[in-house]
Amino acid sequence: MPQSQKLFQPITIGDIALKHRVVLSPMTRFRNTSQHVPTDLSVEYYSQRGSVPGTLLISEATAIAAKAGGYENIPHLETPVQIAGWNKASHPFISMLWAFGRTADPAFMKRHGLQYVSASDIPLTGFPEPHVLTIEETKEYVQLFARAAVNAVEAGFDGVEVHGANGYLVDQFLQDVCNNRTDEYGGSIENRCRFALEILDAIVNALGTEQKVAIRLSPWEIYQDMRMKDPMPTFRYLVSEIARRYPNLAYLHVTEPRVTGDHDREAGEGEQNDFIREIWGSRAFVSAGGYNRELAVDTAERTGNLIAFGRHYLANPDLPLRLYANHPLNKYNRKTFLLVENSIGYTDYPFAEDLRSRAIESDKANASD
Ligand SMILES: Cc1cc2nc3c(=O)[nH]c(=O)nc-3n(C[C@H](O)[C@H](O)[C@H](O)COP(=O)(O)O)c2cc1C
Repeated sequence: MPQSQKLFQPITIGDIALKHRVVLSPMTRFRNTSQHVPTDLSVEYYSQRGSVPGTLLISEATAIAAKAGGYENIPHLETPVQIAGWNKASHPFISMLWAFGRTADPAFMKRHGLQYVSASDIPLTGFPEPHVLTIEETKEYVQLFARAAVNAVEAGFDGVEVHGANGYLVDQFLQDVCNNRTDEYGGSIENRCRFALEILDAIVNALGTEQKVAIRLSPWEIYQDMRMKDPMPTFRYLVSEIARRYPNLAYLHVTEPRVTGDHDREAGEGEQNDFIREIWGSRAFVSAGGYNRELAVDTAERTGNLIAFGRHYLANPDLPLRLYANHPLNKYNRKTFLLVENSIGYTDYPFAEDLRSRAIESDKANASD
């Protein structure tokens, strides 16, 4: 790809060399088996999305263990079969590590004899009161994250991204709207951030490198009863600590306030992530949420950020090429986002064939130069 715009310029994150800065955002698709193993269809889906060489793919969120899961047909990274399920995947590929906490489906947990848990007893609206993780249980979760990270590398992933966003377990500890603990994991900002930082510590130790480790945060997210009155002090501290402790982290991934979950919203007054970008400085930063081509090009130009695409990328297997060529995009169909074990709306979105042949021809021309 030519290099006049930053979005299409190469960048190295951790130990991964990328050819451009368009990233596949993590997306749950429910296309895994009932044993939480990816299928050949999942492998095809990711290889389509990684069809432009040097594209960073982030996997759908993947439960670190059965007890940290919460729904059928999501992947887990616990058993040998679940680990082996990824061995044909395309690269570079990051595994997103997930623990549900109070956002699990209580019926699923009950069916599988699993405890429905959270950072504290504050229930999700309409859900039962969760069991409050004891200090010992919390520390066990930290170890489960580390073990899953090791499993991810064994599965062939190039690194891991801790799911610290969108109201899942790590976020449940971070934010005072669902953490009313009075022990070392609650109360002060330092205490609420302890779980996330211990997870990163445990993963870095287990892998022996920071360069394969990342974390996703969503300071402004309102989904699943989140959003502190003023998220900035908590996230300012957390990001400063991450930057101080792990100067060589692969990247920081942050969602923009103009989205909630997989929907657009209008960002509220004063909601912005530049305070995080300032702390993070020139290190690799992935920004996600509500990007179209113009906004992605402008943001990459202004900040040097990598730009993660969700909805447009699930509908456009060759998105980096289409963005580069300013080629029209396929429209996504929300009805097929979460169809269990089904290729419809998954691997059947068409490539722009004229672009594909052009890219291949230009590769051939470069090779013969
Ligand atoms: C079908 C679907 C599933 C998603 N699953 C996840 C997920 O597993 N983990 C996560 O952090 N975000 C998830 N998201 C959020 C996306 O990563 C992204 O932040 C969001 O779609 C906004 O980006 P967009 O405007 O480019 O779509 C999901 C989004 C969609 C559309």
